[in-house]
Amino acid sequence: MLGKLIVDRGLATQAEVDAVFAAMRTPAGAARAFTDILIEGQIVTRRQLARLRSEAESDRSVLRIPGYQMVRRLGAGAMAAVYLARQTSLDRLVAIKILPRRYSSDPTFVERFYKEGRAAAKLSDPNIVGALDVGSVGEQHYFVMEYVDGETVHDLITKSKRLSERDALTITRQIASALKHAHAKGFIHRDIKPKNIIMTKSGSAKLADLGLARAIDDKKAAEAERHKAFGTPYYISPEQVRGAVDLGPPADIYGLGATLYHMLTGRVPFKGNGPSEVMRAHLSEELVPPDQLVGGLSQHTAEIVELMMRKRPAERYQSAVELMEDLDLALAGQPLRYATRAVDLADIASDVESQAQTTIQAAATSGRLPQWAVLLIVVLSVVCLALLVLIILK
Ligand SMILES: Nc1ncnc2c1ncn2[C@@H]1O[C@H](COP(=O)(O)OP(=O)(O)OP(=O)(O)O)[C@@H](O)[C@H]1O
Ligand SMILES: [Mg+2]
Repeated sequence: MLGKLIVDRGLATQAEVDAVFAAMRTPAGAARAFTDILIEGQIVTRRQLARLRSEAESDRSVLRIPGYQMVRRLGAGAMAAVYLARQTSLDRLVAIKILPRRYSSDPTFVERFYKEGRAAAKLSDPNIVGALDVGSVGEQHYFVMEYVDGETVHDLITKSKRLSERDALTITRQIASALKHAHAKGFIHRDIKPKNIIMTKSGSAKLADLGLARAIDDKKAAEAERHKAFGTPYYISPEQVRGAVDLGPPADIYGLGATLYHMLTGRVPFKGNGPSEVMRAHLSEELVPPDQLVGGLSQHTAEIVELMMRKRPAERYQSAVELMEDLDLALAGQPLRYATRAVDLADIASDVESQAQTTIQAAATSGRLPQWAVLLIVVLSVVCLALLVLIILK
């Protein structure tokens, strides 16, 4: 079984594995373990073997979930593995997330997991991966959800570096619509990111893991991140970094904004050496406007991203509905309702003033303009400046 898994994962060829079996049949190799020969022959590392063993262990548990037949592993994240399975009673494919054993010893987690699972099952939206069942097998808890045959937005970004502006806005619009539904039912997702958005073959975006983020509290998430290299908080809102408990819709809007930024630019908004540096950047580092990184990106789209990612929740879109309104306007090429880049009045005033000064100085030094004309220029500049300020303040 281990040999098959090693070949399936592309860690070795069938010929290499066969050669190890052949070596075990020789008198010198008879007493030696399959794994020792693999490691000595530098076919796999000790670490890869340990990972495969734990995968095989969870695969065996999934096989034993009553009512489901395991088909294959779909993927794994920082905290869990997800499997494709067949629900025998209804003869349909489902995705099952198996949570690690370490959670089962925490009664608060178990209680919250079932409560959230039940609540998530009440959500019904074309852009949300449906929650179907929660349960436990042995000491492991599982979460059964609708199976989405497609790729995650993270896969799409990895493949094509970045998405087109229209595709990115359309995906964001669909997830905003999912959030509208979830928020109305009292759910804050708390973990919006490209890996949690799955695209169906027909181009619909589906938001995954609703109901799970609240069950796995931030302490557990941080713990998981210590053990794994992935799971860096590239999309976390500043209020989550601060450990706020009363999260509202703007927290998800920030995560979706960071996701949109990544889709448009091919870069996460903030980088750093490790989770704490990235989290600090979310709190205090200024965002590089996306249109500074991607030539040809419309100002409207850049303004939407910036409003979604304001550091203070009160300055962001306050609801998914507001966000959807601006996204629709941007997609139609019309002026936005909520997002417009804040114009710095002080900057404009000093620009006009310095321009007027330059003109007067030039006129004075060339001596070509009579004094009354210089005076007229000064008066006109002041009037222009006043008018400009009035227009902007209005
Ligand atoms: N409902 C589903 N249908 C199809 N594939 C899914 C489904 N849910 C998850 N997957 C696949 O399983 C992978 C692992 O999902 P999981 O939620 O465990 O981790 P993640 O979201 O990728 O990352 P992280 O652990 O950092 O949150 C996903 O990347 C996706 O490819
Ligand atoms: Mg996920």
